[in-house]
Amino acid sequence: MVEVAEVARTPLISVRGLVKSFGPIRAVDGVSLDIYPGEVLGVIGDNGAGKSTFLSLLAGFHRPDAGRLLYRGREVSLGSPRVARRRLRIEMVYQDLRLAPDLTVWENLFLGEELRVLGVLSNRRQMRARAERVLHELNTGIRPDDVLSELSGGEQQSVAIARAILFDRDVVIMDEPTAAISVGKVEEVLRLVRELKGYGKTVLLVSHRLEDVLRVADRIVVFYHGRIRRVLENRGLQVADLVHEMF
Ligand SMILES: Nc1ncnc2c1ncn2[C@@H]1O[C@H](COP(=O)(O)OP(=O)(O)OP(=O)(O)O)[C@@H](O)[C@H]1O
Ligand SMILES: [Mg+2]
Repeated sequence: MVEVAEVARTPLISVRGLVKSFGPIRAVDGVSLDIYPGEVLGVIGDNGAGKSTFLSLLAGFHRPDAGRLLYRGREVSLGSPRVARRRLRIEMVYQDLRLAPDLTVWENLFLGEELRVLGVLSNRRQMRARAERVLHELNTGIRPDDVLSELSGGEQQSVAIARAILFDRDVVIMDEPTAAISVGKVEEVLRLVRELKGYGKTVLLVSHRLEDVLRVADRIVVFYHGRIRRVLENRGLQVADLVHEMF
């Protein structure tokens, strides 16, 4: 019998010695980290510290030059967004969102993941209904037929986040979700981060807004020149402590 506390401490994802270079630049320079189920992990660091590259490796958007990834204790090869989504159950919300502005909300929710029934694209009504249910469940106030480009930046973030619930991902990676949105909408994004945690999902949140990170993170990872310099428990931490670790 394994104790409950032991189970809770088993990492969902472990990475060891990840390296990724772009030409002469070692963007990620030997990163090891354990990521636990249901935690909100803040990821901070100066511009160019390697945060986005590290997260893109997890999301399968880049292939690492070296390093291993264990998912629930099993080695998984990185480098394919499809594997990241289907096997690691990771959904990444990119800095630039990568949604289709001219399509509706529900079409965006199913972008690249269209429902198939017996190999045939299933009907739009079914997808739309599922989209409506998730948007309602998350209390977003967004309608499935809204056209994406007519939503605010924060609402577009919400659409990207809703995909994680819709496809039941375990891990949601958000790269600067609050960078380009109005102050009022920041609250909405932070609320959704807590909501995801409430669903038992792991959230990796990259942000330069250190106050936001302090408000939602359980632990905070500090990147510095492609490496993890510190992993901090978010207990009694202040912005000044984080700034001190970052520079
Ligand atoms: N596709 C790429 N091609 C070449 N160099 C890259 C590429 N992506 C990132 N880099 C370089 O790798 C380093 C790390 O970049 P990365 O985007 O991961 O940093 P970051 O911590 O996300 O920074 P920011 O806070 O500005 O978003 C930087 O020196 C950057 O210029
Ligand atoms: Mg970045």
